[in-house]
Amino acid sequence: MARETIIAGNWKMNLVLDQAWELIHGLKQELSGKKGLRVVVFPQAPLLPLVADWLEDSFIELGTQNTSSQLQGAYTGETSPFLSQQMGCRYGLAGHSERRELFAESDKIVASKAQTLVELGMRPIVCVGESLAEREANQHEEKIKKQVQAIYQTLPKEQHKDLIFAYEPIWAIGTGKTASAEQANEIHALIRAEIQSQSVELIAHSTPILYGGSVKPESAGELLKKSEVDGLLVGGASLKAKDFISIVQAYP
Ligand code: 13P
Repeated sequence: MARETIIAGNWKMNLVLDQAWELIHGLKQELSGKKGLRVVVFPQAPLLPLVADWLEDSFIELGTQNTSSQLQGAYTGETSPFLSQQMGCRYGLAGHSERRELFAESDKIVASKAQTLVELGMRPIVCVGESLAEREANQHEEKIKKQVQAIYQTLPKEQHKDLIFAYEPIWAIGTGKTASAEQANEIHALIRAEIQSQSVELIAHSTPILYGGSVKPESAGELLKKSEVDGLLVGGASLKAKDFISIVQAYP
């Protein structure tokens, strides 16, 4: 069974109303669905219902950048994953390095957010990756394995099939320094091996693992050719219709 390819645009805290409309309009004009490919955009939370409306007649899907591990309640300023789902989201990011670093999200919090998403029938994209210091100290493999383990220690077996991972080396995010396709492939293989040791072979084989970190139209094709790279999580280049269209079109 071939794994699906997912090309996702994480808009982060960018794009206001007119810019978002222009981008979605551009994507809808140029992109058409291809077998085996999913394209997902992750706007800021207040834009979700509007973008969902704009995408109603499109194959492009919607995801949420951050959700609480709780469904509702007295959590001022948090976003309910249940409400996000009602707004049309099928996917949710969990554990993006910006959340881990700037908002002190631990492995445990990330796992609990991922679990809540799965329980709602949504698919979490769990982000893992090392800092430059960790790579230079050759601690990157241990760090990534630990991040993966935390997920499987929390989610019961029957929930494993809904997980998606993204390898996002922190040193490559927003820096213009992409991991080479070989480096990405190597770490994806390590993540898959870790999934196999935490779960079962079938799950390891079917779990999509995306790469993120300064993906550009020039690097997308090489990355997508690699056997362990099942898609891309794009930041900066997903904000420009022309660039994101070229990245999606790099899927053969
Ligand atoms: P850039 O593509 O801007 O490096 O961001 C990557 C990222 O963090 C996607 O989640």
